[in-house]
Amino acid sequence: MTWLLTGGAGYIGSHVARSLLASGREVVVLDDLSTGHIETIPAGVPLAQGSVGDSAFVVETLRHHDVTGVIHLAAKKAVGESVELPLYYYRENVDGILSLLEAMTEVGVKNFVYSSSAGVYGEPETSPVLEDGPTVPMSPYGETKLIGEWLTRDSARIRGDLSWIALRYFNVAGAGAPELGDTSVANLIPIVLRAVANNVTPQVFGDDYPTPDGTCIRDYIHVADLADAHVQAAAVTESEQIGNAINIGTGNGDSVLDVITSISRALNQPVPHQVVARRAGDPAELVAAIDKAESVLNWTASLDLDAMTESAVAAQRARKS
Ligand code: WQD
Repeated sequence: MTWLLTGGAGYIGSHVARSLLASGREVVVLDDLSTGHIETIPAGVPLAQGSVGDSAFVVETLRHHDVTGVIHLAAKKAVGESVELPLYYYRENVDGILSLLEAMTEVGVKNFVYSSSAGVYGEPETSPVLEDGPTVPMSPYGETKLIGEWLTRDSARIRGDLSWIALRYFNVAGAGAPELGDTSVANLIPIVLRAVANNVTPQVFGDDYPTPDGTCIRDYIHVADLADAHVQAAAVTESEQIGNAINIGTGNGDSVLDVITSISRALNQPVPHQVVARRAGDPAELVAAIDKAESVLNWTASLDLDAMTESAVAAQRARKS
């Protein structure tokens, strides 16, 4: 089986590539290297350098490598930026998956795993949040991810032979190896690590939420566990006809203060912080219901928050040395 990994040179892609190879599958990376790093592509894995939105290029890549399945990770993913540049996000993320699905239809590729997001839920009515709950994204980024699910579902309905799973990631963190850390500094753990390194006081966005310590609760998932979930999803699409969206989280919630405490343990130094006003659009609590991941993918996370912060610290140190 040969899997095309769009966005395979990115933070998550570099982990998924390694897990797919370890499962015995062939891997081809498609990446325009706009944010990815060529040196994180495992040795021997071919790179098709170009845009997922370039249908002719994708068709040629699928044919050339006899691709049997696609894992689609390539996308813009900064929530705040998507609010400032909504049309850019729709152009990149919606055009990207649309062209890809067209190319897959043309070539007849039947297996598809799509990188979706807990951002599709917006402010959930219940926690843990179930996959069949309301999807009301609160940012253009979340909208584009949800539209991607719709395009996939509708393409599958009309094709009849597309087997697909959308993985709704919760808060991805950590590194599977020191050289594979998240370099984007767009999320809580890298933001706090960067602040500490620069002698800046990290900010906590609000401590008056209806949670035990007043700070927001999220479901942090280790990127190495997330990568394994992709392999399980790929295997399920290979073995059965499926069309499903599945939460990928641990099922446990940690507050912003829990995260800072864990970072402090990993750094072995105190991390003083400053509480500032709430950030607009933050739900108080977003935790995954994980029953479906367990039953459909036969997968559960095995790594905890300390493993995430420790590996993120190791990756930051490796970058500096
Ligand atoms: C986590 C918590 C902040 C920075 C987003 C997307 C989601 C997914 C992951 C992926 C929140 C608090 C943060 C800081 C803080 N997208 N925080 N101080 O917003 O839960 O989820 O990223 O590609 O779809 O919505 O992640 O890491 O920004 O924030 O207090 O300096 O940390 O308020 O409670 P978020 P985050």
